[in-house]
Amino acid sequence: MSTVANQQGLTDKGLGYKAHSIGGFRFERDEYFAHIFYPGGRHIMPVDAFLRALMRDVAWGFFYGTVNFDNVFGTVNHYGTVEMFIGLFNEAYRSTNRHHVETFESKDLKKVFEQMLQDWVNEGFDPFAAPDETGAPFGAKKGNNTKAIQRQRMVADRMVGLPGDLGYRTDQNGYPLNRQFQDIPTDQPEVHAEPGFEKDVHAYNFFNYVARSDVTWNPSVVSCVKDSQFCATTEEHILPITHGNDRVEWFIQATDEIIWDIDDRATGKPRAKVVMKAGDVAAMPADIRHRGYSPKRSILIVWENNDGTLPQKYASGQLKPYPVEF
Ligand code: PHB
Ligand code: FE
Repeated sequence: MSTVANQQGLTDKGLGYKAHSIGGFRFERDEYFAHIFYPGGRHIMPVDAFLRALMRDVAWGFFYGTVNFDNVFGTVNHYGTVEMFIGLFNEAYRSTNRHHVETFESKDLKKVFEQMLQDWVNEGFDPFAAPDETGAPFGAKKGNNTKAIQRQRMVADRMVGLPGDLGYRTDQNGYPLNRQFQDIPTDQPEVHAEPGFEKDVHAYNFFNYVARSDVTWNPSVVSCVKDSQFCATTEEHILPITHGNDRVEWFIQATDEIIWDIDDRATGKPRAKVVMKAGDVAAMPADIRHRGYSPKRSILIVWENNDGTLPQKYASGQLKPYPVEF
């Protein structure tokens, strides 16, 4: 395995970007596109879509199950190792044996992905921001945006707002209400703690907290009880990946509306359109892939089961791909 940087690439036009390689894969970028070369072929993606997907794959440690950057290229998390693939979940590639898969140590692939982000994300472009809230990623190399790409997902140390929690968001610490959430009520609940319990009893306005997030499509763990992870996120424009989960996942639409494309996880064949309005709850089955569209910034709660034994139970058929039988 080798990381080839600084080497003249096939598409090199003197734009200032390096080529990045691992195993048989080689990534290059030009003004508008990411080019992926692999044994037996090449693939191309718009560079903005590629960088938004890459950012999430890195930030989420390859996430649960499959991260499809588009309907051809992506990664599958095996929690310690990761497969990077061309056409693995694409019926046309599979039926003509044109798919290509390589397995890497997660830490090795993560390193190459991080180097690519550092090199390819220009000053003024934040891959976590909604398109209307950031600059364009196109053109020749111009600076970088280390601050944006090294942002960590917020994990509360203890309940949001209690002494010792660092995550509370206010106008004063640089987290104003998002421009599209000006209608969100920001009043705080009244708390009447018994004397002596003032530091332990607390309540806060969850909407007022989440509506100050400066990123999109980036679930943050807001509560974690054993394997039950509640992850709130603000969504605007398109989920940059098409996620094929290796377990059932629940969505709670807290405000506004998201339209979901649900496709078969293995083939990509369309299965359903799901329109989720504020108050709707859905269980996403373990045998699908999904991509969401949020016309206006909205609040979504993603509920994940972090139990590491689940992928095997679903893969072996021990568990049905859906949680309830009606
Ligand atoms: C998902 O794939 O389930 C997902 C990912 C990121 C989000 C929301 C949902 O912000
Ligand atoms: Fe998902």
